[in-house]
Amino acid sequence: MADDTKFLLLALLLSCSSLCFGSEADIQCLKSVQQSVIDPNGVLKSSWYFENPYPNDAYICRFTGVECWYHDENRVLSLRLGNLGLEGPFPQGLENCSSVTGLDLSNNNFSGPIPQDISRQVPYLTSLDLSYNSFTGSIPQNISNMTYLNILNLQHNQFSGQIPPQFNLLTRLTAFNVAENLLSGPIPSLLQNFSASNFAGNQGLCGSPLDECSTPQRRWRPVRIRLHRLNDQSSIGAAVGFVVGFVVAFYFPQCFVCSERFRANVVRI
Ligand SMILES: *[C@@H]1O[C@H](CO)[C@@H](O)[C@H](O)[C@H]1NC(C)=O
Ligand SMILES: *[C@@H]1O[C@H](CO)[C@@H](O)[C@H](O)[C@H]1NC(C)=O
Ligand SMILES: *[C@@H]1O[C@H](CO)[C@@H](O)[C@H](O)[C@H]1NC(C)=O
Ligand SMILES: *[C@@H]1O[C@H](CO)[C@@H](O)[C@H](O)[C@H]1NC(C)=O
Ligand SMILES: *[C@@H]1O[C@H](CO)[C@@H](O)[C@H](O)[C@H]1NC(C)=O
Repeated sequence: MADDTKFLLLALLLSCSSLCFGSEADIQCLKSVQQSVIDPNGVLKSSWYFENPYPNDAYICRFTGVECWYHDENRVLSLRLGNLGLEGPFPQGLENCSSVTGLDLSNNNFSGPIPQDISRQVPYLTSLDLSYNSFTGSIPQNISNMTYLNILNLQHNQFSGQIPPQFNLLTRLTAFNVAENLLSGPIPSLLQNFSASNFAGNQGLCGSPLDECSTPQRRWRPVRIRLHRLNDQSSIGAAVGFVVGFVVAFYFPQCFVCSERFRANVVRI
C-alpha cells in the first residue's frame, strides 16, 4: 500500500466524529444519488432497495456498484457506476458519502457540468473516472483542491476551456487523461510527463507532450510597443523623411544634379 493511501486511511479513521455516525448520512447519499440520476435500464431502481427490515444490517454494501469500508458497516468506500446506461446530471448528494475515496461514472451518458465545488463534496477521492460521457463546461479549478487524487480520467467528454494551471498542485497523480474533448490552451507543466495520447483529440491543446504553443502575443506585442513609442515622440514623420531623403540622395545623386540644372534654368528665365 502506498504511503499516501496509508496516510489517508489514518486520517479517515481518526476523524471519527463525523464518520462513526456516517451510516445514516451514507444511506441519505445513495438515496439522493438514485433520485438525481436517470436510470433507463432500472439498474439502480432494482438493486438499490432501501426498505430494509433490519436497521443494523449493512444492507447498502450489497447494492450494485457500492463498495463499503467494512462489510458490516453502511459506510461507502467507493461508488462504481460505470457502464450502467445512466443519464442526467452529475449525481447529487455525494457530500453525505463523507468518506468515499473512489467515484467511477465512466461509460454512461451523463451530461451537464461537473459541480464547481466538487472538492468540497468529495474531498477524499483518490480516483475520479468520468470518462466516456457527455459532460460539458469547463474542468473546475476546484479539482486542484482534491489533494489525494491519484487517478483523474476525463477523456471522451465535451469539456471546453483550459486545463486549470492549478493542476500543477496535483502532485500525486499517476494517471491523467483528457483525450477527446474540446480543450484548448497550454498543458500545465506537471502533466507533461503523461503520454501525448492522453491529450489527443483536443483541437486547441498545446505544449509538451504536444506541439509547442504558438505565441501570437509575443510576436505582436513588441511591434505595438515600438509604434506606440514612435507616436509618443511624434517623430515618425521626421524619421521616415530622414531615411527616404538619405536613400534618395545616396542612390539618385543625379536628381540633385538635375534639380540644380532646373534651378539654373529658372534663374536664366
Ligand atoms: C445529507 O443527509 C441529511 C440527513 O442525514 C439530509 O438532511 C441532507 O439534506 C443531506 N444533504 C444532501 C446534500 O443531500
Ligand atoms: C446521450 O444523451 C443525449 C442527450 O443528453 C442524447 O442526445 C444522446 O442520444 C444520448 N446518447 C446515448 C448513446 O444514449
Ligand atoms: C473549492 O474547494 C475548497 C476546498 O475543497 C472549498 O472550500 C471551496 O468552496 C471550493 N470552491 C468553490 C468555488 O466551490
Ligand atoms: C484550493 O486551491 C487553490 C489553488 O487551486 C488554493 O488557492 C486554495 O487555498 C485552496 N483552498 C482550500 C480550502 O484548500
Ligand atoms: C518528468 O520526467 C523526468 C524524467 O523522467 C523528470 O526529470 C522530471 O522532473 C519530470 N517532470 C515533471 C514535471 O514531473
